[in-house]
Amino acid sequence: MKHLLVSGGCGFIGSNFVRHVLEYTDLSVTVLDKLTYAGRRENLHGLENHPRLEVVVGDIGNQELVNHLVARSGIDTIVNFAAETHVDQSILGPLVFTDTNVRGTHVLLEVAREHGLRFHHISTDEVYGHIPDGHQSVESDPLAPRSPYSASKAAADQLVQAYVITYGLAATITRGANNVGPYQFPEKAVPLFSTNALLGLPLPVYGDGLQMRDYAHVLDHCTGILTVLERGVTGEVYNVGTGREMTNLEMVDIVLETLGASRDLVRHVTDRPGHDRRYSMNVDKLRALGWEPRYDPRQAVAEAARWYAENRWWWEPIRAGNFQEYYARQYGKRLGNEAPESTQ
Ligand code: NAD
Ligand code: DAU
Repeated sequence: MKHLLVSGGCGFIGSNFVRHVLEYTDLSVTVLDKLTYAGRRENLHGLENHPRLEVVVGDIGNQELVNHLVARSGIDTIVNFAAETHVDQSILGPLVFTDTNVRGTHVLLEVAREHGLRFHHISTDEVYGHIPDGHQSVESDPLAPRSPYSASKAAADQLVQAYVITYGLAATITRGANNVGPYQFPEKAVPLFSTNALLGLPLPVYGDGLQMRDYAHVLDHCTGILTVLERGVTGEVYNVGTGREMTNLEMVDIVLETLGASRDLVRHVTDRPGHDRRYSMNVDKLRALGWEPRYDPRQAVAEAARWYAENRWWWEPIRAGNFQEYYARQYGKRLGNEAPESTQ
């Protein structure tokens, strides 16, 4: 493994992964990113002139482009982060999720097959669906997705596994828990709640807020992916998380406490349709490769909230732009229009 094609490398996890790989390995990286609303060049700031990094703007669904990138360089491995990733957006407009998450992944698999590349696919704990109390998902559990987003991710996982079986593709999959950390687009709960608290706006908690999530630090996800690339068995799936969950209300309390904001900002609003009540994964299979998470979930959420307090340069322009239309559509009625968006 010498040269990675990292699709979605300008997004939240992809950009943290690229930074980590350039700092701790000798690998070269070509990023392929469509720069959707969630993909941002500034997520890779400071790396503009890095001698082992190239950034190409384009769509993973463009087979000609992906073929060209692979044919003209020494790319030997594809790491696929590129996706539409927000559950609420998938409820508002699901078709693009199929275009990118299913068809786009399929195109990358075809190119990998044609050129004999190693393939690593980034998946999610959401493919297991709601997990009842007392159970932790293991990699062999059946997939039971319940949102258009998770259904598209499950379909992609199954395509990857079909390529392993049918064509002998050297592929692996990691299924990550809820990541938190720097550069996460503020549509997701932790950055939304952090930036709302910093703006003095209400925090819209869906339903009773007792849903359970494993809030894992993005750097633990990055080291998990690198571990699988270096030591994972091809054809296998590995869960990546901390194995410990908290309720959303506990997460909100950590955000408020870290930022010194009042609990009065919390609003219980209409729930997300089909909201999965609990995710929980067993991560022993990845541990057996020598990987350990370094952050506990409480520390991960607090560090993330602090990052948003210290990096207004990053999120204020986002929140002042097109994000406002999304915010009004998603939260206007839920919050009774009591909170016009503002960056003042
Ligand atoms: P993100 O939304 O922050 O970034 C996605 C990136 O993909 C963006 O840079 C976007 O421009 C790019 N992209 C979208 N469509 C594309 C296309 N057609 N061609 C090329 N690039 C395209 O997402 P994220 O949170 O960083 O998630 C990255 C991956 O990790 C996704 O596959 C997601 O399903 C998975 N995942 C995310 C989490 C999480 O908590 N955020 C947890 C587990 C797994
Ligand atoms: O579990 C992994 C998944 O984590 C990834 O596959 C997804 O790409 C990523 O978006 C994330 O999905 P969730 O739907 O769990 O994350 P989100 O940040 O949207 O929500 C976290 C929890 O907070 C969830 O229970 C819904 C709740 N929530 C979210 C928002 C945006 C609220 O209560 N209010 C909100 O406004």
